[in-house]
This record gives sequence, structure tokens and C-alpha cells, in this order.
Amino acid sequence: SILIVDFGSQVTQLIARRVREAGVYSEIAPFQSAAAAFARMQPKGIVLSGGPASVLDEGSPRIPQAILDSGLPILGICYGQQALTQQLGGRVEKGVGGEFGEAFVEIDQACALFDGLWTSGERHQVWMSHGDHVAQLAPGFRPVASSKGAPFAIIADDARRIYAMQFHPEVVHTPDGAKLIANFARHVCGLAGDWSMAEFRAAKIAEIRAQVGEGRVICGLSGGVDSAVAAVLIHEAIGEQLTCVFVDHGLMRAGEADQVVGLFRGHYNIPLVHVNAETLFLSGLAGVTDPEAKRKFIGKTFIDVFEEEARKIGGAQFLAQGTLYPDVIESVSFTGGPSVTIKSHHNVGGLPERMNMQLVEPLRELFKDEVRALGRELGLPDIFVGRHPFPGPGLAIRIPGEVSKERCDILRKADAIYLEEIRNAGLYDAIWQAFAVLLPVRTVGVMGDARTYDSVLALRAVTSVDGMTAQAFQFPGDFLPRVATRIINEVKGVNRVTYDYTSKPPGTIEWE
Ligand code: XMP
Repeated sequence: SILIVDFGSQVTQLIARRVREAGVYSEIAPFQSAAAAFARMQPKGIVLSGGPASVLDEGSPRIPQAILDSGLPILGICYGQQALTQQLGGRVEKGVGGEFGEAFVEIDQACALFDGLWTSGERHQVWMSHGDHVAQLAPGFRPVASSKGAPFAIIADDARRIYAMQFHPEVVHTPDGAKLIANFARHVCGLAGDWSMAEFRAAKIAEIRAQVGEGRVICGLSGGVDSAVAAVLIHEAIGEQLTCVFVDHGLMRAGEADQVVGLFRGHYNIPLVHVNAETLFLSGLAGVTDPEAKRKFIGKTFIDVFEEEARKIGGAQFLAQGTLYPDVIESVSFTGGPSVTIKSHHNVGGLPERMNMQLVEPLRELFKDEVRALGRELGLPDIFVGRHPFPGPGLAIRIPGEVSKERCDILRKADAIYLEEIRNAGLYDAIWQAFAVLLPVRTVGVMGDARTYDSVLALRAVTSVDGMTAQAFQFPGDFLPRVATRIINEVKGVNRVTYDYTSKPPGTIEWE
């Protein structure tokens, strides 16, 4: 395995991800506890992350001496390079201005990091973000690549197998960065690259057991993939010490609530409290038309119901959540937009303090696609694991205007037809998210010989990488007319279907 020493960079998790992609297990330890993690893990290599500090400042973070003395391969990134240089006898200087963003490195000499990748004389794009820079190499090092602002952009000490770079290989803006990290893990550390999700599962199970001990854990299920994967993993670790609470607000898509209940009770035999709170939610939503008022009511009611159930169960010291790495980043840097409300809803924000519980968040290091891989590893059905994202407030925010049971039922029917056609056409996985929106607009139509006066339905499908930006999906020519015809024929209450071509920005994915 590889130990990643975290000096506080915003992107340390990406290093872990790249190492895992290279098929090598990795763990991150904050620099303060890195020495202990090093002793416990006995890794085969070390990566030192970037960080906001300056090695020139009094009391700045340092590399544990045990790591420097170990003789193991080390890869230093940005702050990691500067700390290595300073602690091994070189010199770091304050930069004038520094380098931020895209930069190019000139490859001057070969080294093990470049095996099969880069050769001397080439020029490659990298992503820089630094103020200080290395001014004089520590004994034993040689420069292998340079950039305009960093003459020692990449340095190597082949005898000690220590490599370091000023730029960030872990971000996508360094196109070959993942391969540099893979070369370090495999060629320099000599690791086989056969690690898999199976091992992550085993490691997390051990971690959950260590954290929870004999304690009791409650997990709120939203019906989505993340909380389900977290719950199944935790159940595998501690069995009956886990109780799941599924707050069913009655605003799910067709068949979804049954699917969750069936999966947990039937397939996994996980203790599950299914709270059917449809009436509570729908009666509270009566007369509410403002999108934010809907969201706030649903979020608050969700927490109230969950809290009441948790009290009934009693005695739980831990609250489990399916928090993912992007949620962790967003909670720090995301500053606007409708999903902020739900992030706090979905992650049952405020509850742990209110109920005096500790959090168990086994998916905190993972990205969405990794959670899906873990879900498959745990035996969750593909059709569940690969599901499109679904917002916490559910269908309520896909029914502009007032929400009622009747309108939810109409929307569920139309949405199911749309998704069925998408699956049949083999397009489901090419789309980030597809759904129908039931509009508070009625138009005139003619069916048979009769006049109709019914609702308009909008269809939406978008492609996206992370939900932050999105583009309307372009369906093949005959697809939308076919779906429109089916919906109008089969769903009473809808007599006109439109397609939404808006990108995000300026639109959002959901309509409310
Ligand atoms: P927007 O509409 O903000 O949506 O472009 C971006 C992504 O977030 C989902 N979304 C939510 N997810 N709770 C959630 O868990 C919410 O309140 C919420 N609102 C939007 C949306 O479905 C899309 O995938």
C-alpha cells in the first residue's frame, strides 16, 4: 500500500483516487498523525501532498523523520517537494508572484517516473499552484524537468528513490498526471497494481468495526444509491447493531419505495424501519407553491420524522451517512444554487449535534463512480446502483405550483413511461439524468372527436460530469415523438408534451 501524508491541499483526495486507479491501495493521514499511520500501515511507498503553508514559516508542517529514514520510495508534490528539499538539506525561496494554473514543463532527462510516458526534449502541460519554489537542490537530487517559473519542476534522487514535483499531477489539468502517479506506484514502489474494490470493502469494514465497537448505529435511507451502499457496507461490518430508517415522503418515483424496502428487507435482511409519511408530507405541502418553501418544508419534516424514529429506536451513538467526497468539497466551497438546501437535507445536517451522535461516513473518500463500483462489489443490483441521481425533495420540485397526490400519480406514470423508453432504446447510461416535469398549465387538445383540456408535461434529459454544468441530451429523431404519443395516450391528465433544451447554466437541471 501507499501512505499519503496530507499537508492540507484541497485536492489530496484526488491523489488517493489516482493511486487507487493504478490498482494500489492507499490511505490518507493528516501530517500530524502520519508517523502513527506509517507505523501501523507499513506501506511500500509514501506520497507527500501539497498544502497551503510555507516551509519558510515558523512551525510549518514537517515530514515525520521515520518516513525520511525509512529508505522507502517517496513522491513529493508541491508543498511535499518543498518540505523534502528543506528537510534533506536544500533551500526553498519565497516566489515573486508564483505560478498558478496551466504551465508547461520541458523534459530534460529521463527518470523512472517517465517510463513509457515522457522522453527528453518533450514539452508537457501541467497544472501549477505555488508561491514558494525550490532554489537549491538537496544533496543527491538532480533536476529532470523545468518550467518557466520553476527550474526544478521535477527532481529525482534515483539512489534513494525520492521524486518530487512542483506541479499537481493529481488534477485533470495535468493530462499525464495519473500516469506519473501510476509509474511511481508500480515502477518505483514495485507494487503489483492488483488492488480492487474488494480490498477497499475489507479495509472499510475493519475501520467501521474499530470506530463503532459495540455501539449502535442508525442510518437514514433516502432511496438513493449513496445511503444504500453505506448501509449495506455498515451492515456487513456490524450486522444487527445497525438499524436503517427509511423516511418515505411519498414523493418517490414509481416503484422506488418498494424497491428500497424489498432490497433491504428481502435481499439483505437488514433491519429497516419504513416510515410511510406520505400523508404528513402531502398535507403539509397543500397550498405551498413557492419552490424554496417546498424545499424547506420537506427538509425540516424529513429531519423531524427521522429524529422521532431515532428516539423510538433509542440508544444509538452513531449516525451513518452516505456522504461522498464531492459533498465534502461542496460543503466548503459551494456557495449558491438550489442543491445547497438539499445537501444539508440529504446529509441530515444538524442532526448529529442535536442528537449528540457521532458520524459514520464510510464513503467520504469516494467519487460517485467509485460508490457505484463498491455497490456492485457488495452485490447491489446493477439497475439500482446505476440509477440516475434523484433530488431529496423528490417529485415535489418536479410539479411547479401546488403538489397533490393526484398530480404525483400523473407524474409518476408519465415519468415511468419516459424512463422505460430510454432504457429500451439503450440510452439510459448515456444520460446523466432524465425526468418529466408536470406543469401547472392546461392546454386544449383533441382526442377521438372530443375536446380535451389537460396538463402539459415537459421532458428533460441532460448530460453532465458532476451536475454542476449540464447540456440537453440530443435524442435520435424518432424517439421524442414516440414517447410523447405514448404518454398522451396512456396517461390521463396529460394532453401535450414538450422537450426542455436549456443548458445549465443558465438553467438548473431541476425546474425548481
Ligand atoms: P440543479 O437543479 O441544481 O441540480 O441543477 C443539480 C443536481 O442536483 C440534484 N438536486 C438535488 N439533489 N437534493 C438532492 O439530493 C436536492 O434538493 C437537489 N436539488 C437538485 C439534481 O437532481 C441534479 O442532479
